[in-house]
Amino acid sequence: MRQETAQEKAQHAAQETALTEAQQARIDRWLAQYPPDPAGRRSAVIPALHVLQDDNGGTLERHHIAALADYLGMPRAAVFEVATFYSMFHLDTACGRHKVNICTNISCWLNGADGLVAYAEEKLGVRLGETTTDGRITLVREEECLAGCVGAPMMVVDGHYHTHLTRERIDEILDGLD
Ligand code: FES
Repeated sequence: MRQETAQEKAQHAAQETALTEAQQARIDRWLAQYPPDPAGRRSAVIPALHVLQDDNGGTLERHHIAALADYLGMPRAAVFEVATFYSMFHLDTACGRHKVNICTNISCWLNGADGLVAYAEEKLGVRLGETTTDGRITLVREEECLAGCVGAPMMVVDGHYHTHLTRERIDEILDGLD
């Protein structure tokens, strides 16, 4: 088999770290909603990471961080900090087709979230932070309030909010995931 030339290697590396035109267009739409300055670009990091994560089957890889930072003209460390701070981003972590985040913060905890987590763990046969063996569901370890306290206890499934949870609702929702 023919060895890659140095030029081909450099070309492949550049392609690997580049955003596609479609991704750039979606990120540009977010950028247009913020001021055209460094603070505005920082504001676009979260939605832009969602774009890349969604396109990559629910996970992020290091080259996404580098590509996005370069595109936004930001230090790579700044984008890395965001990607590793929020539990909604999954960097270097394989995830299932569906991500289930049961909120266990104070309002949800006071309304029985711990019991619901235990129920979901038993139902799925995985612990928080794990993925079912069929790759269907990742039960995300959630440490932050998910901003749905008024409907506590609640969970977020693939970005959709489900409030006033009960075991029956969990059955219904999880059983409906392909
Ligand atoms: S504490 Fe669960 S949504 Fe706020």
